[in-house]
Amino acid sequence: MEVVRVQTIAHESKDSTIPSIFLRAETEQPGTTTVHGVKLGVPIIDFSNPNEEKLENEIMEASKEWGMFQIVNHEIPNEVIKKLQSVGKEFFELPQEEKEVYAKPVVGSNSSEGYGSKHQKELSGKKGWVDHFFHIIWPPSNVDYRFWPKNPPSYREVNEEYGKYIRLVTEKLLKNMLIGLGFEEHELKSATGEDEMIHLLKINYYPPCPCPDLVLGVPPHTDMCYITILVPNEVEGLQASRDGQWYDVKYIPNALIIHIGDQMEILSNGKYKAVLHRTTVNKEETRMSWPVFIEPQEQHEVGPHPKFVNQDNPSKYKTKKYKDYAYCKLNKIPQ
Ligand code: SIN
Ligand code: FE2
Repeated sequence: MEVVRVQTIAHESKDSTIPSIFLRAETEQPGTTTVHGVKLGVPIIDFSNPNEEKLENEIMEASKEWGMFQIVNHEIPNEVIKKLQSVGKEFFELPQEEKEVYAKPVVGSNSSEGYGSKHQKELSGKKGWVDHFFHIIWPPSNVDYRFWPKNPPSYREVNEEYGKYIRLVTEKLLKNMLIGLGFEEHELKSATGEDEMIHLLKINYYPPCPCPDLVLGVPPHTDMCYITILVPNEVEGLQASRDGQWYDVKYIPNALIIHIGDQMEILSNGKYKAVLHRTTVNKEETRMSWPVFIEPQEQHEVGPHPKFVNQDNPSKYKTKKYKDYAYCKLNKIPQ
C-alpha cells in the first residue's frame, strides 16, 4: 500500500481544499476549541539554580500541578540545538524518494523507527497534519544506525552530540523528580529499576496548511514515556489542556519543553500528572519539533512503585511490560 505523505498533500493543495480526512468535527477544531487571546504560562525552571532544594521543589510542584514546564539555562549550547534543527529540516526537504528509503514498513514491523505518517485513522476517523521520523539515540545497545538519515552527511554527528547533552538533562531531571517523590540519592537506580532508559528522538514535520483552524497536527494525547524533552522550531503550535480548556503554550526562546509522561504518573501512583496536549499547524509556515522520549526498555515491568501503594492509596494502575503498555496505548485498548 502506498502511503501519501502529508508533505506531498500540502504541496498539492496550496491555497485550495484538503482531503476531508484531515478536517475535524467542530468539537475538535482548534479554531472553535482554543481559548483565544491568552497564552498558557507553564512554570519556567532555571536549571542552573545553585539552591538544590529550591530546584527540586520547583520541579516537583510543576510535575504535580502541571505535568509540563520549561527549562532555561539548561546548558545545551544554542549552537547544538540550531544544528539539530537544521539537519532535521534538511532531511525533510530532500526529494520524496530519498526520504522513502527510511520509510517504516506498513505492516509486519514492530519497530517504531524510521520515516512515516500515521497509517491508521484515529478513533475520530481523522488524521493529523504531520509526518514524522523516529530513531533511538541512546543507549548504544539500542541504537540502529540503519534508521538514521545518511543525508545530510553531518546528520549522525550532530544528533550524537545533541544526544550527549540530552542525557545530562535527563539525568538531572529524573534525579530531581525522584528525590521530590521521597527517594534517597542511593535509591535512584532502583526507583525505576532501569539500567539505561531508551532515548527515542522524534522529528515532527507539520507542513503549512490552507485551513489551520480546521485541522490538528497531533490530536490530544499524553506521552507514554517517563518524560519528554522537546525543542520546537520558531513556529508556535503546542497546546495544553488546563481545567478542561485548550490553550496555546507560551514559548520561551531557547527553553526546553518538558512533558511528564504516563510512566512517571504510573510510577508515582498518580502523584505526578502526565500532561494532555495537542498541536496546531500554520497557514504559511512549516512547524517542526524534536521531542526526545525517555522511555523504559520493552521488557521492563512498569507499574506503581511499592512506596506509593498502601491501604489508603491503592494501586491506580496495572503493572505490565512496557511493550504491552505501548501496544495497548497505540491500539487504543484499555490498559
Ligand atoms: C507531540 O506531542 O508529539 C508533538 C509536540 C509538538 O510538536 O510540539
Ligand atoms: Fe506528545
